[in-house]
Amino acid sequence: MSLIYFPIMVLTVLVYVLMPRSVVARLQEANRRKEIAARLKAMDQFVNKGERVLDFGAGRGDFLKHVARDFSVDIIGIDIIDYTDDDVEVLMFDGDRIPLPDKSVDVGMAAFVLHHIVDQERAMAELVRVCRSRIIIFEDTFFTPWQWVFVAWNDYYANIIMGSVRAWKSLGKFTIAKMPMPLTFRSVRGWSAFFGGYGLTTRSVQVRHNAIKPMSKVTFVLEVAPQTATVEPASKPAEPVPAMA
Ligand SMILES: C[S@@+](CC[C@H](N)C(=O)[O-])C[C@H]1O[C@@H](n2cnc3c(N)ncnc32)[C@H](O)[C@@H]1O
Repeated sequence: MSLIYFPIMVLTVLVYVLMPRSVVARLQEANRRKEIAARLKAMDQFVNKGERVLDFGAGRGDFLKHVARDFSVDIIGIDIIDYTDDDVEVLMFDGDRIPLPDKSVDVGMAAFVLHHIVDQERAMAELVRVCRSRIIIFEDTFFTPWQWVFVAWNDYYANIIMGSVRAWKSLGKFTIAKMPMPLTFRSVRGWSAFFGGYGLTTRSVQVRHNAIKPMSKVTFVLEVAPQTATVEPASKPAEPVPAMA
């Protein structure tokens, strides 16, 4: 049944290519606003006014702007590719060591970033090193092997195909095509086991099921214990293989 989404998504791309730029911009911004509103709601009780927040893999930087405004926080965005909106500053780094001192931010966020990273262990150890209180992870997830296939396809669709359409319509930068796509997704249980390996305490797990597509998103709010500031994972984290949650 959900095979129907593949031709629908291909058709959507064709329609987007043919539509005037202003209509594409409006449709994409409407979708983006909905997504950002859902993220802000999920993290609502877990960020305090005046805190210092890191947006790891900030991308366009639009989410960062909303977080700064809605929570009145001091925010810094970093990424490995520059495709920011023109009025947002996101610091470029090598993707290995976060260019911040130990325990220098209160909250670290990684929104749909970890599944773009092969060495997730290194990225997580770096987040734990620089964060003193909480880490908020937004991720795509799956509950069946078929959903893994759909989530993987959707990752290409949303980032590479739609990113190229945006660039072609002069709504974004073509650099998006450089985004690493290792498809390192995990089930909710897989992510929990992975985070547990860093001594992080899970404060909240919120799953959002897509109303139309066979895919889900999950938000983890993790608490950093002071003694885990610079340690490597205690045990080897679970492999990111498709599995029932
Ligand atoms: C799907 S985008 C999400 C962007 C943004 N967080 C958002 O929610 O719109 C994934 C981002 O991860 C970034 N990324 C990939 N590898 C990274 C790494 N090793 N360190 C930091 N960011 C990375 C990509 O450049 C891209 O901006």
